[in-house]
Amino acid sequence: SSSGQAGHSFRRKPVIIIVVGMAGSGKTTFLHRLVCHTQASRICGYVLNLDPAVMTLPYGANIDIRDTVKYKEVMKQFNLGPNGGILTSLNLFATKFDEVIQVIENRADQLDYVLVDTPGQIEIFTWSASGAIITEAFASTFPTVVAYVVDTPRSSSPVTFMSNMLYACSILYKTRLPLVLAFNKTDVAQHQFALEWMEDFEAFQAAMRSDDSHMSTFAQSLSLVLDEFYKNLRSVGVSAVSGAGMDAFFKAIEASAEEYMETY
Ligand code: GTP
Repeated sequence: SSSGQAGHSFRRKPVIIIVVGMAGSGKTTFLHRLVCHTQASRICGYVLNLDPAVMTLPYGANIDIRDTVKYKEVMKQFNLGPNGGILTSLNLFATKFDEVIQVIENRADQLDYVLVDTPGQIEIFTWSASGAIITEAFASTFPTVVAYVVDTPRSSSPVTFMSNMLYACSILYKTRLPLVLAFNKTDVAQHQFALEWMEDFEAFQAAMRSDDSHMSTFAQSLSLVLDEFYKNLRSVGVSAVSGAGMDAFFKAIEASAEEYMETY
């Protein structure tokens, strides 16, 4: 049903959730969990898979890049390696992305969220022209939020934590979209330490000093940059395996969508 209003006035629904994360962070398992949660809560989630190279998905995707682009054939045709093949497949898909937006717009009234899975190698999406085109196409049409999945047990050392946060920070400034940090695998390690480091600069500095090596001035400067970054995001602890933290995650998404509506 058209309201008769043209163009730029955003409809509230659906909210696009672009899920990114380092390889092994549990992105696909997390997305599966989100799909289960939406189904159980009678929320309507629409799933878009943007990973052309994934063999099997644990969830059913409503729109799947693999239906349009055959990654193995792209590799052969353009004589590319695996990463080049994924990137070229994503480029080919990006040229038709207006059709994807159209499909979602046609169903907008019935959809609450669109859950977007991205290629396993994070930089293929976050540092490519097609990733930027796709993100921009979403963000100019719907409230759009980036969910950055963090492997919590593997981020427990201050240096690893800082590297991971610097990467998240670069995504925030590149997309300029609201960002939610999903500290995953809290069934293995609680994310309390991360919250403490993010809230208390001194605590992080102390952890850095007690880490094996000395604290360089460079690392100190970087942690100051991050302190500013932390003020611009929301963090939740989740477990894709146990399902913990789903309500908190969707609350953070809602607040981020509100922020989007106010800012853009
Ligand atoms: P792709 O890059 O798309 O393949 O996803 P991914 O590599 O980011 O993560 P995937 O979902 O394949 O998960 C990586 C590993 O982490 C798997 O062995 C998962 O079972 C495991 N994993 C994911 N989420 C959790 C979690 O919440 N808790 C625990 N304990 N393990 C998890």
